[in-house]
Amino acid sequence: MDINRLFADAVAHQNEGRWAEAAALYRKIDKARPGLGPVNWNLGIVLKAQEQWDDALRAFEKADKAGGDFRGLLFNIGLCWQKLGRMEAAAKAFEKAVAAEPDDHVGLFNLAAAYRELDQLEKAVAAVDRSLALNPDFVEAQLLQSKLRTRMLPIWHVPMVNDAPRNDAYEAAIKAQVRPGDLVLEIGTGSGLLAMMAARAGATVVTCEAVPWIAETARAVIAANGLSDRVTVVNTLSTALQVGDVLPRRADILLSEIVASDFLSERIIPAVADARARLLRPDARILPERGGVRCALAGGDILERHLFTGPTNGFDLTPFNRLYPRTVRYDARTVQPVALSSAIDPFSFDFTAGPVPLCEQVRFSLTANAIGHCVALAQWVWLDFGKGILFENSPFVDSPASGWQPGFFLPPAPFPVSPGKVVDIDGYHDSYNVWLSFRP
Ligand SMILES: C[S@@+](CC[C@H](N)C(=O)[O-])C[C@H]1O[C@@H](n2cnc3c(N)ncnc32)[C@H](O)[C@@H]1O
Repeated sequence: MDINRLFADAVAHQNEGRWAEAAALYRKIDKARPGLGPVNWNLGIVLKAQEQWDDALRAFEKADKAGGDFRGLLFNIGLCWQKLGRMEAAAKAFEKAVAAEPDDHVGLFNLAAAYRELDQLEKAVAAVDRSLALNPDFVEAQLLQSKLRTRMLPIWHVPMVNDAPRNDAYEAAIKAQVRPGDLVLEIGTGSGLLAMMAARAGATVVTCEAVPWIAETARAVIAANGLSDRVTVVNTLSTALQVGDVLPRRADILLSEIVASDFLSERIIPAVADARARLLRPDARILPERGGVRCALAGGDILERHLFTGPTNGFDLTPFNRLYPRTVRYDARTVQPVALSSAIDPFSFDFTAGPVPLCEQVRFSLTANAIGHCVALAQWVWLDFGKGILFENSPFVDSPASGWQPGFFLPPAPFPVSPGKVVDIDGYHDSYNVWLSFRP
């Protein structure tokens, strides 16, 4: 058998895109002279072109074993593992490929994609950042980087730290309650904003952050503001923090803003209860001291158009409403709700008193004080920091964009109200979910 001749014929088929014929000849040579690097490399390439990932992988691995210097070989091995859905093997191969060819922006991109599949987000973002540093115009990498960042940081963080009324309420409370020399424990560092406010008021601050890359970035923010000697960021859930480790003693003040739009779903109740039991002095000040869920009947044309459909272009779409969720959140400025009753607080939590109830069910009534079309029960949050410092994000008051969006709990259908009409509501929370419903 003339191996050289067969190889030349196989290459000719390959160059003309006759993959099956080329593969047959490469296989014939490999049978006669097993393990030749160039033969298996080329065989891998034509099998890859036919998306025969299993066989292509075997051929590339033989080429690798033969020790030939084929640019992209390790990358192709990774690609085969990736196509076969074996992400751990793919990541290992791409790691080797990138170590061998560190300027390969495509290799780095594929490594990032494999890490993403493995939920190794920090490694993924580091790899995609390197890929983009090599080739800033690489659009697939730009897209992947954006998707990764979306998973790494809830987007409410930015409007939240730009929410001046929220920030001002916290700063006023910190100025009123923090004394120089205090040890402040913060739960939930985020950008480090509140921890830096407490440090500026003269405290030593230990702050914990559950998400590793947020903790690391907060350290950088705090260092950039020259406060690293006053604020220690620990990457941990508050419930895993111990006194005697980074927290030298029980703290004088607990500071937290782990308040969700529904007040509860960031799990403030168990986190504060745990801190009070283990991490605070018995007489520690707690910021906020109290807070809760507030609600009122809401109407308004724009709000209604976001919550219910009906007659449209000469058709009746009312049956479509049955698919719409029973509660949604919108920026108040988008939906412009109109208050149809005064507000009521179905759930209030006092963090300075005895244990906060973990589950509550209440029944209450709201009395309409205006003529209108009720389309929702609007829900928002309030905070009381003591010393007369109060905050609420009422959707009926024009205020800047906030990380907290009001909730709208829907009745089965919009209904008319006029002053004096009583509307009965059921409320429930389990210290994580809040549920409000119109009683039939
Ligand atoms: C709403 S943000 C507030 C951030 C910052 N304190 C501020 O007010 O600007 C809450 C942060 O706390 C973190 N977090 C929530 N519960 C936590 C807990 N129990 N222990 C540690 N971190 C927590 C979240 O990951 C998030 O970054």
